[in-house]
Formats: sequence, C-alpha cells, structure tokens
Amino acid sequence: MTELSTDIIIQGCQPISGTIQAGGAKNSVLKLMAAAILAAGQTHITNVPDISDVQTMAEVLRQLGVAVTLEQSALTIDTSTVTSYVAPPELVNQMRASIAVLGPLLGRFHQAQVAVPGGCKIGERQLDLHFSALEALGMQYHTDTVYIHASAPQGLKGAPVNLSFPSVGATENLMMAAVLAEGETVIDNAAREPEIVDLADYLVAMGAQIKGAGTPQIRIIGVRQLKPVAEYQTIGDRIVSGTFLVAGALLGGPLTVEGIKPAHLAAALDKLISMGVTVQAKENSITVFRERPLIPQNIQTLPFPGFPTDLQPQFMVLDCLAKGQALVAENIFENRFQHVRELQQMGAHIKTQGHFATVEGVEQLQGAIVQSSDLRGGAALVLAGLVAKGQTRVTNTEHIDRGYERLTEKLSALGATLTRAGWRTAG
Ligand code: UD1
Repeated sequence: MTELSTDIIIQGCQPISGTIQAGGAKNSVLKLMAAAILAAGQTHITNVPDISDVQTMAEVLRQLGVAVTLEQSALTIDTSTVTSYVAPPELVNQMRASIAVLGPLLGRFHQAQVAVPGGCKIGERQLDLHFSALEALGMQYHTDTVYIHASAPQGLKGAPVNLSFPSVGATENLMMAAVLAEGETVIDNAAREPEIVDLADYLVAMGAQIKGAGTPQIRIIGVRQLKPVAEYQTIGDRIVSGTFLVAGALLGGPLTVEGIKPAHLAAALDKLISMGVTVQAKENSITVFRERPLIPQNIQTLPFPGFPTDLQPQFMVLDCLAKGQALVAENIFENRFQHVRELQQMGAHIKTQGHFATVEGVEQLQGAIVQSSDLRGGAALVLAGLVAKGQTRVTNTEHIDRGYERLTEKLSALGATLTRAGWRTAG
C-alpha cells in the first residue's frame, strides 16, 4: 500500500506574535462523544477540533451503528440506532481513548466488547482501575487475546469506589456507567482534571445527577434514562494552549491564546512566571511575552491540579534554553522521554535516569532531522525547531495530527516559517 505522509520543515529563529484560538479540548470531546451513547437521539457538540483522534472516535461510534458528522467545528451524533457493542482492535489500537465507550455501553445496554488496547509508546497504561471500578457496579468480564468481553447481567448498581490513583480514564468510565446505575455511586480519589468537570457538565445536561466533579469525591445518583443534549460547547484545550504559550515564551511573543480558562493551566502558568515570562491572564484568554533570559525551573508532573504530563515535553524545551540546570520528573507515565534523544540531536544537554531528566541549558539549539514518536513529544520538537538555528525537519508527524488542528497553518499565521512536505512511502 502507498501512504501519504508529511514532514514539518521549520526555518528557526523567526519571531512570532499575535492571537490564536485554543480550540476545543481533545481530551474532553473524545469522552463527550462516548457519553453520547448513553441516550438515544441526536446531539450537537460544538468547539470540536478537526484532528485525527476525533475522526478515530467518530469511526468507533460508526462501528456501533451511530451516525456522526463533523462540520465547521460541530459534531452531530445520532445514537437512535445502535446495532453493535463492539469496538474493534484496528480502531482501539489507533487510539487508546476508545476504551471510553466501555462505561457508556455497559450503562445503556449492559454489554460491551472492546478490543484490548495495544502497547502504548509512552507507557504500559494498565486498565486494572477501570475494571475494578466497573466490577464494583456489577460488571462481569473476561478478556481473550483480542477483546474485553463485558456484561452486567443483573444491571448496574451504584457502589462506593475508592480509586488507588486518580486515573482520568477510570474516573470517566465509572462516571459514564454510574449515571444509569441503580442507586448511588461515590467515587473517592477521583481525577479532578477540567475534562472531568466538562464530562460531568455534559452528563448533567443529559439529565444525570452528579455532584462534586472537580473535587476528589464525586457523588452520582443513577437515573432511569438520559436524553440527548441539543447543544453543548466543549471547553478549550489547555494542552494546545500551553503548547502555543511555550512557543510565545521561547520566541518572546507577545502571543495571546483565546478560548481558554487560565485556571485550567494554573500550574503551567506559575511555571512560566518563575521562568521569567510575563503572563497576563484574563477571564478567557492568556497573553505571554518575555524580555529576560529564561530561568531554569524544576518540573514534576502530577495529576491535576499539578503540572500536566501532557506539557512536560514542551516545557523541557524551555529548560533546554534556560541559563542553568533543571530537573524534570515524569511521574505519570514511565516512558515519556522519547523526545529527549531528538532534542539531544539538536544540541540539548539532557541526561535521563529512570523517570528523571537533568537538563543543562544551552545558548542555542541547532536545526536537525528529528523524529516525532508521540503526540506531545512531537509538538515539543516543533517548538524546538521554531527556536533553533537553521532548518529542522520533524518526521512522523501523524502523531502530532492526532491532537493539533492545522498546527503549521496556525504557527505560520503567527509569523513562523514552516511548511509541510508530503512524500509517499511504499509499505
Ligand atoms: C492521562 C493523563 C491525562 C492526559 C491523558 C492523555 C494524568 C493523571 N492523566 O490520562 O491528564 O490528558 O493521559 O495523555 O495525568 N493507570 C493504571 N491503571 C488503570 C488506569 C491508569 O495503572 O486502570 C496508570 C497508567 O498506566 C498511568 C497513570 O495511571 O501511568 C495515568 O493514567 P490515567 O490518568 O488513567 O491516564 P489517561 O486517562 O490516559
């Protein structure tokens, strides 16, 4: 088969400034799409980015018999007919977030067959918390080499669930199952990410009874039936926003991101300020500019409200150019330093040991041919290319397209010099 692939080619050191829209949060909208399964009928979700992960989730829903269209940042989802409970391996392996259909399928139909997600580039990413949480509500399951076969022959019953780690995915699956379970579910040590609150708001708009989303304890009282939401607007993408803000911080700016709540990025904004970046936060926008040298800052990723793992690679680029040493601790995923080798190719001084990286700032990064091996790591390489001397070519950009809508066009509009070069591979 012949496949079209593209590289991103960047001429570094061009100043960038201007205003950009955050767009809708990938990590919210994928879960909202799954949650739509919980009610029969037509739903509209707005502020949806046209990225390949959204297309993959649309395909997962279509496999279930759901009609999905995406036009002008709005999704129309019609769940009137669901003809299958199967999420096949070719889609689940493409995107792990497909596992989010497990909870809603169990909630509404009491059965689901979801492929076991394959190995993931950034770590093992177990499902034990998803399983034990759903088992507490009455799910029975077994796995074979391909599928998780799940059912709730007696229906789902609310229960107390204490998560040993505030897993975002497990909290979401549990919420989506519990809204249609009989009685009360109390989730302790729940994830508190803004996307959890967005999902809860969406479920409440469907008629669910949920209290406490955004705190460590979420209480859900099951209802008999949910209704589709006429229109729901996805929150802004804090990770895309953070990525653009780092671009502004690297090159000086001023750069404004609109359509994002500063509270969703509080830990990252604090870090930028400590690094010597001026941050101006308004209700729904953030502006950054920098007139001083970068100050190195230690970074340790943690569940929200801690520093997000999805911004660790991008902030590492700032530390690469700061005057002095910084320690980066990746506490969420065990294999999230694949961008390090590529940054080293560009002249960065980084040493890794386990989940720690020691970064010694250098004066300048040099353009190079580098390979994107995951979504956020790939974005970090584009950022490094923007500030490096000479030309950088980032390959394997399909990872970046999973989560960034028209990244090259948006950066070009801000003044960066970058293009995409298509080439064909026989494979
Ligand atoms: C994670 C991030 C989320 C980010 C998303 C996409 C955290 C806490 N979660 O969510 O912010 O937007 O990736 O990159 O930062 N785990 C288990 N068993 C389980 C579930 C998870 O051991 O059943 C482990 C994972 O292997 C991982 C950690 O918990 O090491 C975080 O998992 P989780 O929050 O569930 O991951 P995502 O939902 O993918």
